[in-house]
Amino acid sequence: MNATNAATTARPAEAGEREFIRLENLGKTYYTLREPVEALSGVTLTIRQREMIMVMGPSGSGKTTFLHLLGALDRPTAGSYLLEGVDMTRLSDTQLSRVRNRHFGFVFQSYNLFPELTAVENVEVPMIYGGVPRRQRRERAVQLLQQLGLGHRLKHRPSELSGGEQQRVAIARALANGPTLLLADEPTGNLPTGQGEAIMQILRDLNEHGMTIVVVTHNPEVARYGRRLILLRDGRVVGDHDVASASSVDAILRQVMADTAGVAPGPVPAQEGEAV
Ligand SMILES: Nc1ncnc2c1ncn2[C@@H]1O[C@H](COP(=O)(O)OP(=O)(O)O)[C@@H](O)[C@H]1O
Ligand SMILES: [Mg+2]
Repeated sequence: MNATNAATTARPAEAGEREFIRLENLGKTYYTLREPVEALSGVTLTIRQREMIMVMGPSGSGKTTFLHLLGALDRPTAGSYLLEGVDMTRLSDTQLSRVRNRHFGFVFQSYNLFPELTAVENVEVPMIYGGVPRRQRRERAVQLLQQLGLGHRLKHRPSELSGGEQQRVAIARALANGPTLLLADEPTGNLPTGQGEAIMQILRDLNEHGMTIVVVTHNPEVARYGRRLILLRDGRVVGDHDVASASSVDAILRQVMADTAGVAPGPVPAQEGEAV
């Protein structure tokens, strides 16, 4: 693969898609007690509305860092991040959390549900922060859970649900405030294959209904659900492919697997979970 070309060639705009996010030379260095870790650097790309993007790369390549920066859970240490023309790096913490609450929904590998709350209460949580009145909150939470096939599990607590069901609750919660962008970090990572496929079907369905989605995964079977595939290696974008057609996705994935085959697994990534 010609990494330099892949990383610097701008992806052509698709008709009807509005530019949503523009990253320029985005970077993140973690300053630890020992040496600084450059987890991400020189990331330049544009995300259009209604895209379904898969982000792949070996362990430690910066996937979670990338997703956290995109979702404004963390701030970059270099470069710029424009969301609908607004420079996110200039926003105060309060402004940033308002943007995050309005625009982003998060789905994590470990679901991150509140164990003491029922399914419906978990889905209500972001709406409490969003100032939605109690009755509306309840109605919307029930409706979302029903849409995700959990109408019969409303009062169950996370420990009384399967992994796939817990992840569906987490998706309902991510959708609660009507986000523009759904961000998922290894959403099927803890699930048996069948339940993982069901989760990916839900995400694809949401995308077909207009949701912009970014999914981090190291699983090629999951990556097949994407329409664009961004590859990270050592904190850099080394590939950015349009995979709308089924034949090309196979070729690209073969290349990815060959590419990463020789890469030893990196250190255990830092804590992925973060509460909503
Ligand atoms: N909070 C942190 N402090 C220091 N280093 C970190 C932190 N988070 C991640 N890293 C390091 O940054 C690099 C990228 O991590 P991460 O984004 O979690 O990669 P991935 O999700 O692809 O496994 C790794 O080398 C990791 O050890
Ligand atoms: Mg990760």
